[in-house]
Amino acid sequence: MADEKKDTKEVVEKPVKEKKFHKENFFQRKQREHQEKELGKKRLSEAKALDAKTPKICPPGIYVSLQNINKIYDNGFHAVHDFSIDIKQHEFIVFVGPSGCGKSTTLRMIAGLEDISSGNLFIDGEYMNDVAPKDRNIAMVFQSYALYPHMTVYDNMAFPLKIMHLTKEEINSRVMNAAKILQIEPLLDRKPKALSGGQRQRVALGRAIVRHAKVLLMDEPLSNLDAKLRVQMRSEIVDLHNKLNATTIYVTHDQTEAMTMATRIVILKDGYIQQIGSPIDIFAHPVNQFVAGFIGSPAMNFFEATYKDGIVTLITGEKIKIPSELTAGKTIPENIIWGLRPEDIHEGDGYHASLYPDAIFEITVTLAELLGNEYYIHAKFGDIGMIAKFPAENKVTVGEKVKVCFNPKKSHIFDPKTGVAIF
Ligand SMILES: Nc1ncnc2c1ncn2[C@@H]1O[C@H](COP(=O)(O)OP(=O)(O)OP(=O)(O)O)[C@@H](O)[C@H]1O
Ligand SMILES: [Mg+2]
Repeated sequence: MADEKKDTKEVVEKPVKEKKFHKENFFQRKQREHQEKELGKKRLSEAKALDAKTPKICPPGIYVSLQNINKIYDNGFHAVHDFSIDIKQHEFIVFVGPSGCGKSTTLRMIAGLEDISSGNLFIDGEYMNDVAPKDRNIAMVFQSYALYPHMTVYDNMAFPLKIMHLTKEEINSRVMNAAKILQIEPLLDRKPKALSGGQRQRVALGRAIVRHAKVLLMDEPLSNLDAKLRVQMRSEIVDLHNKLNATTIYVTHDQTEAMTMATRIVILKDGYIQQIGSPIDIFAHPVNQFVAGFIGSPAMNFFEATYKDGIVTLITGEKIKIPSELTAGKTIPENIIWGLRPEDIHEGDGYHASLYPDAIFEITVTLAELLGNEYYIHAKFGDIGMIAKFPAENKVTVGEKVKVCFNPKKSHIFDPKTGVAIF
């Protein structure tokens, strides 16, 4: 062992590895952090100057209005860029995006738990930027339920109302009503430690809804639950939202939650809004490659390709004729990324194959995941990895060559330079 360590090969390799992973030294890091802080300060003062000139008007008929909201943290980090959305009453809005994209920061700015660096926030027609969190008439549910362990379920829910100095009768009526909606009446005398995760989650929701707030904010409220309970709570929360006639803003990094719960989804990346739209609209018409890859499970397949006169030629040489209704009036560059969802890849001898006989190709199965009613078929198409979704009755085995039909009508084309979707 000791000899091996002295091996010259080791000694030579080590510094190379370090160089690769630790690009900046302590001094360089401090210098970069200082520069970022200074840049942040500059941006902040510019944004505030612009803010001072902008009139503070909430559009009519809009319940929650976020207008060019920015967040620049004290260390200069610009976490949220020009976030704008007008939300109507009773909408269920979901902010979704990968970790660190600015979802919680935005939600916390709406709640008043984080300062708004620049931009305007209105709730129910009122300018909210400088209003204290307790006066915003907002209820928030956090990822960690943070129930008081020494209090019963009843007292946990009654606590925020006691702070509001409501009468005993009013408190009792609100708590009992919430308990009924959430079906936790039999649990009111228990302490949180004697509850399951889902029950605790419901108490946390109860504590939020008793306040009869105008806006319900939820930050990843289901991430601590197991998969089955998550699915159940998902529909319960939507149900609750409908029963309460609430306006809800819900944060998650789970695209399935976003798709199933939202009336409108806001997709974020690196602090920038990528797209706002209904689940169905975003799924069918993603504006760029990031959104296309983020929404939908398994993710959309992307293939490097070239385009000419209605024909997509993949780098493996196969040609796919794109229906003219998709390409009409579009300017399509020569080099493209061609995208196709796993569910738009069909069996090579079925209905779609008869419609598009030119789009039948052979793939080699590398992994077949059976999910009960369907297969996720991981395969190689030439050298390219891809995934298709097949009904479970089509038995497939690893290593098998399978004929598939790429549905050309469901094609997506992206500009590889910008990632922008052409369609
Ligand atoms: N107090 C802070 N100071 C500086 N940067 C911060 C601070 N809080 C958050 N950030 C940074 O701001 C960015 C957005 O953070 P945020 O918590 O909003 O992300 P998120 O989308 O909620 O992510 P997650 O899904 O992991 O919860 C991250 O890069 C984070 O590191
Ligand atoms: Mg977060």
